[in-house]
Amino acid sequence: MSIVLSILANAGGVGKTTLGVHLAYEMSRRNFSVALLDLDPQRSLDVFCGLPASESDRTIAQLFSKDFKGNYPLVSCWGNDKVEVCQGHPRLSEVANELVIRKRGEYVLADRLKSYPLPHDLTILDCPATLGMLNVNALAASNYILVPVQLEMKSIAGAAELVEWCITTADELHLSPRPPILGFVPSMYDERRAIHKSYLQQLPAIAETLKIKVYPKIRDSSEFKNASANGLPLQKYRPAHQACNDFKAIANDLSNLIKTGNK
Ligand SMILES: Nc1ncnc2c1ncn2[C@@H]1O[C@H](COP(=O)(O)OP(=O)(O)OP(=O)(O)O)[C@@H](O)[C@H]1O
Ligand SMILES: [Mg+2]
Repeated sequence: MSIVLSILANAGGVGKTTLGVHLAYEMSRRNFSVALLDLDPQRSLDVFCGLPASESDRTIAQLFSKDFKGNYPLVSCWGNDKVEVCQGHPRLSEVANELVIRKRGEYVLADRLKSYPLPHDLTILDCPATLGMLNVNALAASNYILVPVQLEMKSIAGAAELVEWCITTADELHLSPRPPILGFVPSMYDERRAIHKSYLQQLPAIAETLKIKVYPKIRDSSEFKNASANGLPLQKYRPAHQACNDFKAIANDLSNLIKTGNK
């Protein structure tokens, strides 16, 4: 069964793209095919995947054009034939404005994926930080959501607000079933910082009130930045690095969901 997973947060720089990229690689190692779609006008995936910028008609902007007929502009990356990327483009900002007045503007991405299903086992939507029309489109197109949370008060409060936004927006869009949040993912955990330890301990109680699972933390490491500066995931850049293991629990759940028919 194919899964469409949105990585959402209503704050910038909390590790959304990092999570998407490393999950994509981990899932490809488990022999699943993955499509990574960049809904961010800042086209972060170009950097993380070592791809040169493309003209807008070779990017995800094309999916939103009215004459789209299923010709997804996908490119492979990391020399890995299991991962394909649909690149982002600054034109997505204009697209977001146009969607506001377009019929079924909230559902364009969902409609595309329904009319022209991608063959991949897993489609990951790397979303921008603002909860505008692009993220509404991502929500409507998803069957699961992951929320990275930095271990800071602002990010934790933001995550709780995001849960509320997902529920309200899914109900307004009459999404049935409402795409569940698979879990919070504590990101950039630095064990030397007392505040991180303290928030990591508090997060399960907060998540429980929201009925949301908390995944194991992703540790802070400058090697993440070095890897992405080289256009690679950490698993390829430093395969023996301990942080490569931090994505395994989520990948286990995704593997089970794909294998058990998305229940
Ligand atoms: N676990 C980590 N340890 C150290 N640095 C990290 C970690 N995760 C992400 N980073 C770095 O933090 C920065 C922000 O991460 P990332 O781009 O994944 O966040 P984002 O939520 O996608 O940001 P944006 O809102 O701009 O899309 C990047 O430079 C990234 O390399
Ligand atoms: Mg990003």
